[in-house]
Amino acid sequence: MKIIRHIHELRDHLRGQNRAAFVPTMGSLHEGHLSLMRLARQYGDPVVASIFVNRLQFGPHEDFDKYPRTFEADIEKLEKEGVYILFAPTEKDLYPEPQDYRVDPPKDLGDILEGEFRPGFFKGVCTVVLKLFSCVQPNAAVFGKKDYQQLMIIRRMAQQFALPVEIIPAQTIRDADGLALSSRNGYLTSDERIEAPELYKILQQMQESIHLAQNPSQQILKNIEQAAKELIRARGWQPDYLAIRQQHNLLEPTPDQLAQNVPLVILAAAKLGKTRLIDNLEV
Ligand code: PAF
Repeated sequence: MKIIRHIHELRDHLRGQNRAAFVPTMGSLHEGHLSLMRLARQYGDPVVASIFVNRLQFGPHEDFDKYPRTFEADIEKLEKEGVYILFAPTEKDLYPEPQDYRVDPPKDLGDILEGEFRPGFFKGVCTVVLKLFSCVQPNAAVFGKKDYQQLMIIRRMAQQFALPVEIIPAQTIRDADGLALSSRNGYLTSDERIEAPELYKILQQMQESIHLAQNPSQQILKNIEQAAKELIRARGWQPDYLAIRQQHNLLEPTPDQLAQNVPLVILAAAKLGKTRLIDNLEV
């Protein structure tokens, strides 16, 4: 595997390649990331991964400085997965001057859910992903469904800018107890790690309540959300949101849409101690 820091070097290596499959990451790689690399192999050759902890997507009080950085271990894992190039620019390489031009996703998608609780997050994500796409020029790029809203926003960005890249969604990988894999799971204390799978269990209970309600009304969905919030609070979590939304645009379903069985998704973000976890489940 070639480890490349500079954009011009990356371009030299990829010249003439028009089938690259790309997996952008912030490192601290776990089995979930490695499953993205395997999926990427089915969509192109060579597989290019990136590791870049993107300051632009962290709020002033978020964990940019303490975000886990495990570069040597990441390299070993990527080599085993047959990744051809690891693009790992420094901040100076990717942002040699202040990144004044930014990609601002539409408010109705970018400022809700994660965007409401992490202002500017999707602006930072879209800006770095567009820049990474411009560096790698992949034919396909893989993003995990665990970051459901991120995947949707990036897919729309690719459509709106007519980027010649196919966005491939990858299933969430979970530990045996149901906890979705995430680099932030490493922040959990051992007691919190035992509690953490409850978030997914609550999503499953909400899913079951929706199924049992058959054609639920808006009020029933609100009640299900409310009950889930109370349940998780009672377990010591601080929920940001537990929301039942339409799959295709993440907005609240209207009564008409509910009558027509519009596909729904439950999205959640909640803090356990100091660690903020997110998860989702399609209904
Ligand atoms: O999902 C992530 O790890 C990041 O948001 C991404 C897509 C690599 C952009 O920094």
